[in-house]
Amino acid sequence: MSAPPPIVDADLVARLRADLEHAAYTVEAVGELLGPLASAALGREQVLPAQRVTATAGTPLATLVRLFTLGDAVDADDAARALPTLGVEGAERLRLVVQQGPGVVATCDLRPYADEDHAWWVASDLSELATRAPLSEDHVLGIGGASTTLASWTPRPRVERALDLGTGCGVQALHLGAHAASVTVTDISARALAYAAFNAELNGCDWTFVEGSMLDPVAGQRFDLIVSNPPFVITPRTPDVPLFEYRDGGQAGDSLVADLVRSIGDHLAPGGIAQFLGNWEVVGDSDWRDRVRGWVAGSGLDAWVVQREVQDPAQYAETWARDGGHHSATSEFATMYAAWLDDFASRGVSAIGFGVITLQRPTGDRDPFLDLTEATGPVASPMGPAVLAGLAARTWLAEHTDDELLEVAWRCADDVTEERHGRPGDTDPTVILLRQGGGLGRVVRLGTAGAALVSVCDGSLSAGAAVAAIASLLGVDETEVRAEVLPLLRALVADGLLV
Ligand SMILES: C[S@@+](CC[C@H](N)C(=O)[O-])C[C@H]1O[C@@H](n2cnc3c(N)ncnc32)[C@H](O)[C@@H]1O
Repeated sequence: MSAPPPIVDADLVARLRADLEHAAYTVEAVGELLGPLASAALGREQVLPAQRVTATAGTPLATLVRLFTLGDAVDADDAARALPTLGVEGAERLRLVVQQGPGVVATCDLRPYADEDHAWWVASDLSELATRAPLSEDHVLGIGGASTTLASWTPRPRVERALDLGTGCGVQALHLGAHAASVTVTDISARALAYAAFNAELNGCDWTFVEGSMLDPVAGQRFDLIVSNPPFVITPRTPDVPLFEYRDGGQAGDSLVADLVRSIGDHLAPGGIAQFLGNWEVVGDSDWRDRVRGWVAGSGLDAWVVQREVQDPAQYAETWARDGGHHSATSEFATMYAAWLDDFASRGVSAIGFGVITLQRPTGDRDPFLDLTEATGPVASPMGPAVLAGLAARTWLAEHTDDELLEVAWRCADDVTEERHGRPGDTDPTVILLRQGGGLGRVVRLGTAGAALVSVCDGSLSAGAAVAAIASLLGVDETEVRAEVLPLLRALVADGLLV
């Protein structure tokens, strides 16, 4: 049974904010207090090192960490010292803590969060790390790996209207508030919306809240930017597996994400962008691209989908049977594991892909572009600027012919380097690689003509003139060189290696 979510009381929340500021409850200060060992252990969901560091520190900051992150009972006097303006009674009225014997325990998680330019505090339900028990089905998730992945990948142009679909504690909306004039948040969970409303007040944000399933609550509305970390986890529809609201939209297979891709276009203004995370099923020996292509087909939207990870059904079952607080030695875990395996087998699923789906409504009546690609290695962080540039580059490519592409004097981006590998003693390399430092971290193997082209991309010579010169140098037909380098040129421009 979950504790009731916090309430929004402007005066009490202002007092809380004053206390959090006074205690310097920031990502940096908490990191310094815990040190690398305890921080890394917390990342592995081990609280003991952090408990040892904070138990003896005796500062308001340490008390806040013990109370709101580790789920420890703290002495009432320590709690009062950590919350001098709000007081323990004010914290109780906000429904952040309850008295327990001689001490005080938190009823929710509350921690600092930041990006490169902003700092916030975010309340959510206590994690299983703090409760030391499996989560309840209406659990409101704090900031997890998927939240930060989406936040990192989101392109952030200045926009009028933004939507965070399935907002949970409101983490994506906090980011949106930095570059959107208005932010709407939705969730099927009233508890989640209560947390989001509390976090909006705590961080001085003004959002529109609407309760309902998926796109229902925004019927007839259009946005310039839509983000969603939706409940995309593929879950067997059997009573053996709990229906965790935060990860499971209640549909079979990957149909929730498929439906979202198919219906999001009605809510995008011309030029508008939608981005969400998702899982997709790979059936038998088919290609994941075929499945996702089927979702996008006929939507009229540009689509750029990056597959980041692939799991087999057993790996997927293990991940999600463990998520929520079940340990692998228990019979519940074994029952859930089997349910997942049966569910995937019933549809012939051989693998499950995870990735980032970015869609755009074209402004004119051109054919939409479709780019389904894989990037499983490290990428830029944040990735959003590269996504925004990548959308602009793909849009430009969709709107220009090959001849127009060749008229441009392209330049190698600053983060691109070239590697030459050869057999010892050889004068000529056998392998030439172009390596991108940022973006998707592309590594592209170049042929002779491609290497020659890239070597003269300094922004002064058009690609067409370079092709003519290379053909003459190699003594081959110009149309042959042109045909060889055009796909390379398009790929390098799309991914930002040539600008
Ligand atoms: C994975 S959490 C994401 C939370 C947060 N946006 C983030 O990025 O961390 C998914 C959210 O979707 C909500 N949700 C579940 N089913 C939904 C539905 N049918 N319609 C709208 N939201 C739903 C859950 O309550 C939860 O808050």
